[in-house]
Amino acid sequence: MRYITIALPKGRLAKKVMKMLEQTGITCEEMKDEQSRKLIFVNEELKLKFFLAKATDVPTYVEYGAADIGVVGKDTIMEEGRKLYEVVDLGIGKCRMCVAGPASARELLQNHEMIRVATKYPNIAKNYFYNTKHQTVEIIKLNGSIELAPIVGLSEVIVDIVETGTTLKENGLEVLEEVCPLSARMVVNQVSMKMENQRINQLIESLKSVL
Ligand code: PRP
Repeated sequence: MRYITIALPKGRLAKKVMKMLEQTGITCEEMKDEQSRKLIFVNEELKLKFFLAKATDVPTYVEYGAADIGVVGKDTIMEEGRKLYEVVDLGIGKCRMCVAGPASARELLQNHEMIRVATKYPNIAKNYFYNTKHQTVEIIKLNGSIELAPIVGLSEVIVDIVETGTTLKENGLEVLEEVCPLSARMVVNQVSMKMENQRINQLIESLKSVL
């Protein structure tokens, strides 16, 4: 039997997913060592291989078949636009993709003004403003601390993830529009879905049973 390979995003989400898998009887003792810097873990009995990748790279590993299965946020799935099957909403890591900014930017949005939008998610922002809102904007790609942009005058608004809303609040910003709700999803390589249909479906069903 060949290994089924599962790509998990390094960090908090990987831990939550492993907890869910444990509830279905799938464990990986090796992975629990917090000190370890290891990136690949194996469950020999079940012939499962887990690896920890950077979240934004998970769809890439799955599209190319380096992983049969991946767990990743809906934000990354939308931004990366890879060819893969999205099969389960795991209901963890829930948050929202939002347009945010100072209250004064509300008017600029309403009047469909040519504004600057800073974001880590240029494809999501482009799709939202151009295809959903039919508003021409300038998208500025940043890599983190997006909330800075409207404060220092780089942009009028941002498109970013809002979880508790604390970051916005503490920086004098607010949610102006909601783009979409987000959560972690299980994704599957399109060829693996056919070749390993039985084992993958079994995994999907047992995950669904603990949701
Ligand atoms: C995310 C997001 C917001 C914050 C939202 O940032 O970009 O800044 O979390 O969470 P809150 O609504 O609970 O305050 P992250 O910590 O991933 O860092 P980065 O975007 O600055 O890299």
